[in-house]
Amino acid sequence: MLLSSGLMLRGADPQWIRVGTDSTDLILRVAENGRLYQSYLGARLPERDYAHLPQGAEAYVPHGMEDYFEPAIRVLHNDGDPSLLLKYREHQVRQVDDNVTETTVVLADEVYPVTVTLHYMAFQRENVLKCSSEITHTEKRPVVLYQYASSMLHFSRDHYWLTEFSGEWATEVNRAEQPLYFGKKVLDTKLGTRAGIFCSPFFLLGLDRPVQENQGDALIGTIGWTGNFRFTFEVDQFNNLRLSAGINPYGSEYTLRSGEVFRTPEFIFCYSTHGVGEASRNLHRWARRYQVKDGEKERMTLLNNWEATGFGFNEEQLIGLLDEAQKLGVDMFLLDDGWFANKYPRNSDTQGLGDWQENREKLPHGLQPVIDAATKRGLKFGLWIEPEMVSHQSELYEKHPDWVIRFPNREEYYYRHQMVLDLSNPKVQDYVFGVVDDLKSRYPQIAYFKWDCNSPITNIYSTYLKEQQSHLYIDYMRGLYRMLDRIQAKYPDLPMMLCSGGGARCDYEALRYFPEFWASDNTEPLERIFIQWGFSYLFPSKCVAAHVTSWGRQSLKFKTDVAFMGRLGYDIRVSGMSEQELAFSQEAIRTYKRLMPVILEGDLYRLVSPYDGNRDHAAMMYTEPDRAHAVVFAFDMTPRWGEYLSLRSVRLQGLDPARNYRITELNRMEGASTVGCDGQVYSGDYLMKVGLPLFSTGTYVSHVLELTVEP
Ligand code: DGJ
Repeated sequence: MLLSSGLMLRGADPQWIRVGTDSTDLILRVAENGRLYQSYLGARLPERDYAHLPQGAEAYVPHGMEDYFEPAIRVLHNDGDPSLLLKYREHQVRQVDDNVTETTVVLADEVYPVTVTLHYMAFQRENVLKCSSEITHTEKRPVVLYQYASSMLHFSRDHYWLTEFSGEWATEVNRAEQPLYFGKKVLDTKLGTRAGIFCSPFFLLGLDRPVQENQGDALIGTIGWTGNFRFTFEVDQFNNLRLSAGINPYGSEYTLRSGEVFRTPEFIFCYSTHGVGEASRNLHRWARRYQVKDGEKERMTLLNNWEATGFGFNEEQLIGLLDEAQKLGVDMFLLDDGWFANKYPRNSDTQGLGDWQENREKLPHGLQPVIDAATKRGLKFGLWIEPEMVSHQSELYEKHPDWVIRFPNREEYYYRHQMVLDLSNPKVQDYVFGVVDDLKSRYPQIAYFKWDCNSPITNIYSTYLKEQQSHLYIDYMRGLYRMLDRIQAKYPDLPMMLCSGGGARCDYEALRYFPEFWASDNTEPLERIFIQWGFSYLFPSKCVAAHVTSWGRQSLKFKTDVAFMGRLGYDIRVSGMSEQELAFSQEAIRTYKRLMPVILEGDLYRLVSPYDGNRDHAAMMYTEPDRAHAVVFAFDMTPRWGEYLSLRSVRLQGLDPARNYRITELNRMEGASTVGCDGQVYSGDYLMKVGLPLFSTGTYVSHVLELTVEP
C-alpha cells in the first residue's frame, strides 16, 4: 500500500513512498525499524511490484550509528554527543499542478529533538527531480552541523562511470570520464564566489557502462548553489555507490540555534534510460519552463566593447561603436569594464572597483549622452558591473574596510588585484543592491547588466560575523540571494548576464536571477566548440552567451557559425570588417533572429562529439518540438589528411521519419565551401538512417543547414 498524503505511520508494516515522474521512480520505504530507506531508483515500476523490492540503503544516512561510509548528516548535540538516528514521522504529497508534485518526508530522532525534512519536487513530463532537506532542532543550546547534504542517492549496479567538467580561466568545462571503484571521488570547490573556476557544479553518471548519447542508463546531476558545493561518490565493499550532494561543508560547520531551520540548496537530477541526450533535452525543457529567469522569453543580440577597447575608450569612441552596432543590426550595445571611478580611475584591473560613479575623463557628461545616442540608433544599452568586489585602491575600501572580507591582522592577498565584499553583512547587501538601484534610478534606460565576479573569496574573515567565521561561505551566498531577490522584486524585467571571469559561475540557483551566463573569455571558436558542448549537457542554448570576436584565425563565417549555437553576440571591431564580412554578418544576424525559436527553444541533439576520435569534427542540431523545422551545425575542426571520416555521413535525429525536409544552407560566404545537399529534399527517415555528408578533410570548415518540412 502506498502511504497516502499526510498520514502518520502506525504499526510496523513496511510502507512505500513514491517520488516519481512519468518515466522515473524513486521509491522510499519505511522499514519495520521505523527508518527510511531508498528501495529503488530507476525507470518507472508498476506499483504492484513494490512489495518485491529489497529494503535498500538508508535514504539520508546520519553519522554515528552503524553505517561505515559517508553520512548525509553529521551533527554535534549540545551535550557533546555526536549521534543521530532518524526515524520516519510523517509525510505529505502535494499535487502542485498537473505536472508537478511535491513530497515532504519528516524524519526525527527519538532521543534528541532534531528533525530532518526531506523535500522532493517531481516534474512529471520533464522527468526532473529536485531534492533538498531542512534541518531543525529544539535543543536548549545550539547544535553544530558538520555535514548537511541536500540529498543522498544510492545505486547498486555492476559498474559506474563518472563524467566531470573541469578547467581553468579560458578553458572551462573540459569533459573527462572515469570509472568509479571502491573508495571516494569528490567533486568540490572551496572558492566561494568564483566557485567554478576549476570544477563546474554538475556531472554525468553512467550506470553499468560509460555514458552514451542515446543509449543506456545515465543521470545528469547538478546543484542550485552559487557557492562551495560538493558531490561525493563513494563505492563500498559490495560495489554499491552512494552519492551525496550539497554545500561543501569544508570550513563551514554551522551553529544552528534552537528553532532555526537550516535549508539546503536543491540537488537537481534527471535520470534517463536512453542516454544523456534525452536527459539534457529534459533538463533544458524544465529549465526554460520552471527555473531560469525569463526562461521562455526572447534574448537580445548585442555588441560588447571589451575585446575591442579594453579599458581605453571615451564618449566619442563609444558613440563610434554605437554606429558600428547599428550598422551590424544587433539589439543592444553593452559597455564593459572601465567606465567608472575617479579618485582611482578604472584604467586597468588594479583599482577602482567599488566606486561606481562615471569616470569624468572618459565620460565627462556621464552615461546619458551614450545612452541617448544608443536610443537614437534604435539600440538598447547594457552596462558592466562587478558589485560584489572591491579594489584595495578605491574610495569604498577607504571608507569601509570593515565591509571587506579580509583578515584584520594579516597582509592582504589579492586575486586580480581585488577582494570580496562581505555579503553576510546586511549593510553590504544594502550597498550592493544600491549599486544597481542607483544606476537604474539615474539611468532608467539601462536595459541589461553584465554582472561580473572575478575573484574567489580570499582572506576568509568577516568582521561582521565575529565568532561565527565558519558561517561565512554559506551566509555570503544567502546574502547574495537576498540582495538579488530585492533587485528582482524592484526590477523584474531587467535581464542580467552572469559572468565570472568567463564561465566560473553557472548554476541553476543563480539562473533564477540571470537569464544567461558568459561561458568563457576564450572565444577562439575551436575552443568554444568544446566549451559550449560541455555546457550543453546542462543548460539550454539561450542561457549560454556566445560572441563572435577577433580571437582565433578562423574565418568570420566559422566564428559566426559557432556563436550561432548559443545566444549570439559580437565583441569585435565592426570597422575592421571587410565589406563582404559586414554584409555577411548583417545577414547572419537577420537569419539568427529568424531562427531563434529553433535554436533557443528547440530540442538539442548532439550528433557528433568533438571529443570523439581525433577531435576532428563536431555536429549538433536543434529541432522545434513539432519537428517541422530544424537547424544543423557541422564543423570540420583540424582533421588529418585523407582521414576516412570525411566519407561518413552525419545521421540526424529528432525528425519525423514520415515527413520530407528541404535542406537550405545558411550563412554562406563567398569562397567558403558549401554542401552538395543544399536545396535537396529528403525524408526524415533517410536523414536519420543514412544522413548527410557534411564533413570534409578541410580545416575550419563549417556549415549551418536549415531543414524545413515540405508541405
Ligand atoms: C572578465 C569577463 O569575463 C570579461 O568578459 C570582461 O568583462 C572582464 N572581466 C572585464 O574586466
